[in-house]
Amino acid sequence: MVNLKDISSVGVGTYRMNVDNEIHFQAIKTAVEAGYNLIDTATNYQKGKSEELIGHFLKKYPEFAGKLFIISKAGYFPPQTLQSSDFVNYVNQKAIEKAEIEADFAYSLDPNFIAYQLESSLKKIGREYLDAYLLHNPERLFQSKNLASTTYLYQAIERAFKFLEKKVVEGKIRYYGISSGALFDPSKEESIDFEKLLSMVKSIQENHHFKVVQFPFNFKEQAALQKNYDQQSLLDLIHKNGLIAIGNRPLNMNDNGMEFRLVTHEKSLEAWKEEDAQNCLNDLLTQVESRIKTLTNGNSSSDDFEPMVLLKKHYTHFYAAEAVETFFQKHLLPFLQLIYEEETSLIEDVVQTVKDHATCYAHKNQTTKTKAFLKQEDIPLKSNSVLTACDAYLNHFHLNHILVGLRKPQYVMALEGAFTKLM
Ligand SMILES: NC(=O)c1ccc[n+]([C@@H]2O[C@H](COP(=O)([O-])OP(=O)(O)OC[C@H]3O[C@@H](n4cnc5c(N)ncnc54)[C@H](OP(=O)(O)O)[C@@H]3O)[C@@H](O)[C@H]2O)c1
Repeated sequence: MVNLKDISSVGVGTYRMNVDNEIHFQAIKTAVEAGYNLIDTATNYQKGKSEELIGHFLKKYPEFAGKLFIISKAGYFPPQTLQSSDFVNYVNQKAIEKAEIEADFAYSLDPNFIAYQLESSLKKIGREYLDAYLLHNPERLFQSKNLASTTYLYQAIERAFKFLEKKVVEGKIRYYGISSGALFDPSKEESIDFEKLLSMVKSIQENHHFKVVQFPFNFKEQAALQKNYDQQSLLDLIHKNGLIAIGNRPLNMNDNGMEFRLVTHEKSLEAWKEEDAQNCLNDLLTQVESRIKTLTNGNSSSDDFEPMVLLKKHYTHFYAAEAVETFFQKHLLPFLQLIYEEETSLIEDVVQTVKDHATCYAHKNQTTKTKAFLKQEDIPLKSNSVLTACDAYLNHFHLNHILVGLRKPQYVMALEGAFTKLM
């Protein structure tokens, strides 16, 4: 078992990692072998396939099972498509209390629900215990149509904490805690009073196992540092009470309503030439233009079709690889399939190359924006922005741990072996 003081400063955040993706498996392997022993997941990440990825890894490499500090979280009710008949029967039989938020979107801190989720997490991860189990964004209760009230929120949290103390005694978890974007932050309507949580756990048990506090932290989101009530910040309270502070979403920032990711991509762009990107786009446009002319006897051009107009407009302006993927999947590919029908293979290669170039543009734009941001904030750039950010959050702002979405082996390598623990 990993002692709290032996957890690596950086951990693997698996929000975007999935058992079906071999690269994600390799990323976990690379990270663990490099000495990152903290892994964060949740019952709802990737519809449960993030927990399955960790289970798959431990099945293949059981020697690491006792050498990792694994955190999971519960609270989100599974959507109907993921509910087994067993689960539905259990919910009915136990009359589980749930907060209805939207159609097919509910939340619950009912101990019977957490019990079910915990057993499912243990099964998927394939271990007898978890190192920490967290209540996942309890502030969601405020959005509910049937159960939104401050009194209910604290009652539900207290019941859940009491239940989790029992699970510690049973050996199913070692510690418990909370993951939330609304802790001790009076600027938020749904703020959760952290001092109240502290007195709650102390009254449940002097020697409690409430140890882990997770919250968003990056150069733009620093509510955890704000001195609030009695001139204390969330981080002050965490440190003063011997808890551990874990920052999440370290690179995903919100800059005046604009989401952007603090990443630089110099290495992957070294061999990329913008001229090739333009030639490749022109090649695709020429082919599609000719196809449209043939199909419409010369009466239409590509400018009459929105996906083609959008491609020309956004090709050089994407800001994230995910946006490129969404545009191709939702707009461009369905249109091309429509006009090429059985002959899509004619343009498959050029479309893939255009997509790769669009991704390079997105990476170039991210790099430019990240550098401009760091310059404007007067933050010196180390060999890359991830190292820069982790170093600042840990050594300047004194968080105990940072979760990074290390979903590719090269993302692990970019940390250059820093922030690890030897196993
Ligand atoms: N997101 C949330 O709302 C949230 C909430 C609670 C907890 N958490 C926890 O915190 C963890 C971290 O947050 P996050 O996954 O949202 O993202 P993050 O660590 O802030 O950003 C990771 C993303 O940045 C990009 N990237 C580019 N170069 C990178 C590099 N060298 N190293 C790492 N990333 C690089 C990757 O995007 P591409 O691969 O797409 O290029 C990667 O998916 C989560 O996985 C989860 O465990 C997250």
